[in-house]
Amino acid sequence: MTVSGRFITFEGIDGAGKTTHLDALEQAWRQAGREVVRTREPGGTPLAERLRGLFLHEAMDPLTEALLVFAGRRDHLRTVIEPALARGAWVLCDRFTDATFAYQGGGRGFDLTVLRTLESWVQAGRQPDLTLLFDLPPEVAAERLGAARQPDRFEALDTAFFERVRAGYRARLQQDPARFELIDATGTPQQVAERVHQALTRRGLA
Ligand code: TYD
Repeated sequence: MTVSGRFITFEGIDGAGKTTHLDALEQAWRQAGREVVRTREPGGTPLAERLRGLFLHEAMDPLTEALLVFAGRRDHLRTVIEPALARGAWVLCDRFTDATFAYQGGGRGFDLTVLRTLESWVQAGRQPDLTLLFDLPPEVAAERLGAARQPDRFEALDTAFFERVRAGYRARLQQDPARFELIDATGTPQQVAERVHQALTRRGLA
């Protein structure tokens, strides 16, 4: 029998709160005795983390953004994600390719056909088993982020940008609804956690 892990990604606009729920799930699943690989994009390998620094802080055009993020993704898939799935681990990834379609495609308006080509080259058919999409109005997300931290290049963008990112995420969901659970990310962290739990229960993953 071939073992196969689960590949679960967490998506949403900046300030949606996905990382809080990722932390909780990581802890719960480790306690349940599962091998959990917690990772993120951009990043997840020494090379891809170096690319992340450039990606988040240097000015560049959208094609360069897309090429950098897919270059990191290639390294991440080959050296971390695929080996983990092959040994039966549960891979929890904070953002993946849907973010590229939402931010570079939706937010920046970059050509989706090029993104689809890069996706097929880099992923060779690999897609997450499940994507939790944390959805909320950009105004609410902006309030949550507040002025507390130094924003990166993306967090500094305006509400109109995040409306386009949100629409980009929803378009991805419509193209492959079976892969997604849309989580209403408004309300308290406890309310959102309950919605995450219900979604995972529906998927037989709780
Ligand atoms: P994230 O790790 O969520 O930031 P933080 O550590 O501040 O919570 O994501 C970093 C930023 O990169 C985020 O604004 C979204 C953006 N991004 C893209 O534009 N394209 C991509 O393909 C990915 C994965 C992220």
